[in-house]
Amino acid sequence: MPTSFKTDIAPIFAPFYAQMIWRFDLRVYEQVKANALLIDQFISSDPDNRMPPANYGPPLSGQDIATFKTWIAEGCPP
Ligand code: HEM
Repeated sequence: MPTSFKTDIAPIFAPFYAQMIWRFDLRVYEQVKANALLIDQFISSDPDNRMPPANYGPPLSGQDIATFKTWIAEGCPP
């Protein structure tokens, strides 16, 4: 089964959409796809630069980050 935005990616980002809506809507397929490489950099980044920011809690899990990378590698399926 390939990954899909709807079942695998949207649930990871949904809790954070309100804080990022000024830039893009993390619930919307086209917007996450358009910013996928940038988002990948930020969720994988060091604590000073990462998303979600350190004062908003723990980083995404290694599994969630791996799922996002797989989704990109599969061509960002909807
Ligand atoms: C997993 C959830 C999140 C993702 C994937 C994400 C992604 C990103 C990305 C890709 C940027 C860079 C935008 C650009 O350079 O054009 C960014 C910036 C930013 N995000 Fe998020 N974000 C998340 C959660 C949050 C949360 C919870 C907050 C809470 C306030 C937040 C606040 C900000 C702010 C203030 C910036 C601009 C300043 C900076 O780069 O540090 N984000 N985010």
